[in-house]
Amino acid sequence: MIFNVIGYWKNIILLWACGISLTFVLLTMPGKVMAGEAEHSAAVEYGAYLTRIGNCMGCHTTKGGQPFAGGRRLSTSFGVFITPNITPDKETGIGLWNQQDFWQALHQGKSRDGRLLYPAFPYTEYTKVTRQDADAIFAYLQSLPPVSQTNPAHDIFFPYNSESLLAVWRTLYFKEGVYKPDQSKSPAWNRGAYLVQGLGHCNACHTTRNMLGASQDEALTGGQIMGMNWYAPSLSSNLEAGSGDWEIEEIVTLLTTGITKRAVASGPMATVVRQSLQYLSSEDVLAMAAYLKSLTENDIGNVTGVHFSVTSGSFRKQLELGGKIYQEYCQACHGADGKGAPGIYPALAGNRGVVMDSPLNVIRSVLNGGYPATTAGNPRPYGMPPFQQILRNEEVALVVSYIRNAWGNRASLVRALEVDRSKGGDD
Ligand code: HEC
Ligand code: HEC
Ligand code: HEC
Repeated sequence: MIFNVIGYWKNIILLWACGISLTFVLLTMPGKVMAGEAEHSAAVEYGAYLTRIGNCMGCHTTKGGQPFAGGRRLSTSFGVFITPNITPDKETGIGLWNQQDFWQALHQGKSRDGRLLYPAFPYTEYTKVTRQDADAIFAYLQSLPPVSQTNPAHDIFFPYNSESLLAVWRTLYFKEGVYKPDQSKSPAWNRGAYLVQGLGHCNACHTTRNMLGASQDEALTGGQIMGMNWYAPSLSSNLEAGSGDWEIEEIVTLLTTGITKRAVASGPMATVVRQSLQYLSSEDVLAMAAYLKSLTENDIGNVTGVHFSVTSGSFRKQLELGGKIYQEYCQACHGADGKGAPGIYPALAGNRGVVMDSPLNVIRSVLNGGYPATTAGNPRPYGMPPFQQILRNEEVALVVSYIRNAWGNRASLVRALEVDRSKGGDD
């Protein structure tokens, strides 16, 4: 009897406990699912932001093609790389990948099947991205509509198409590892460094590469871009694109609108601003600007970049001829004083890009014209017409020499041969 009573109460208690836990499960389950969903959509949204900062779409999309479906050709001195489809299509994209596979690609430069990836995919920089940020990018990419698109294979010259050479290359030049904050610096500086060195992959262009396409330093000291006839100036020298003597606000304006009183982002840099940097949050762009400004701390302010080997007589004669061409073809926009019109036509007087040691970008601007980046801050940019069909090489050389030496500018003269060499190439 007594056992029965105990048994009875035991059953009641058991039922009661089950009831409670069942109610608990029923009450919390949808909550958990909802919290999970909210977390997921926040990750997707943050992933979309990070994907812009990494400018993944820029390379993984052809002109007029489906976003992220790949197929874009990247010409280099090693051959042509064709970007893969990174939409979640199961057959032709990365639909079968999981977070770990994606991490392996971004962080280690290995495909899902273990194949070593070519550093034309800037995983040499993306390796600095944290696991959390990589997962957010992956969540965003997986949320995209799948696009079924098979892209052609790379067309890489012998011997660069050999996997064992790539393995050697990686041992020599690839340093795997997430960005490590410098505790002696502010959180904003570290955030800026993280973005510039990692997702922003500024080093992919602003660096000198060796014969094997590897960049030797992380100091962003500038160099000719591989496969593009453009020079990406040094971000650590005030004589080039360093911003040591710029106000933070001006750096922010350049990165987000593509144009300031003194400078304009042109060619490939205009593309970077249009596709990526203009979307930086105000916090992140301030962080990036603070980091960029600090890069010039060790700049010795070397002002010996100017070499003249002309007698002053012929020098003056050349500038006179160049000045005439300037009056006829350029002055209407850039002004007799070279000051341009703020926010519309860039100033050429005091413009670092114009007096840089390498005249390549200036020559290219004159030959091909161009448009500054279309951004929210500069929605309808004014363009510059190309002069390739209007001026002969000698005339381009004269007018470029002129703008490099008028209004207090001072830089080497340019020869017709250099103009000829600057023709061709992408962008
Ligand atoms: C400068 C151009 C460039 C940029 C920018 C770029 N990629 Fe790529 N990506 C490539 C190329 C080229 C390959 C092919 C490499 C290979 O096959 O060895 C590639 C390969 C990949 C792969 C491997 C696909 C596979 O099938 O193995 C993934 C994943 C990927 N990219 C994701 C991204 C993400 C995410 C971003 C932005 C954070 C990004 N890429 C930015 C050029 C680029
Ligand atoms: C695809 C190649 C490429 C990438 C990636 C790139 N740049 Fe540039 N950048 C250039 C070129 C080319 C120029 C020279 C043309 C010009 O002056 O705008 C340039 C110029 C600049 C200038 C000077 C602009 C001026 O006119 O004074 C700054 C500052 C700059 N880049 C910062 C960055 C930062 C920061 C990043 C990374 C977030 C970056 N760049 C990524 C190619 C690139
Ligand atoms: C119709 C107006 C117009 C005329 C004419 C014009 N430009 Fe420009 N120029 C611009 C605009 C707009 C830009 C910015 C476009 C860009 O950066 O791609 C620019 C950019 C430049 C740049 C690049 C500046 C930088 O910081 O990167 C140089 C150099 C230049 N022009 C020189 C000349 C010379 C030399 C001539 C005459 C042969 C000339 N321009 C004629 C409007 C003009």
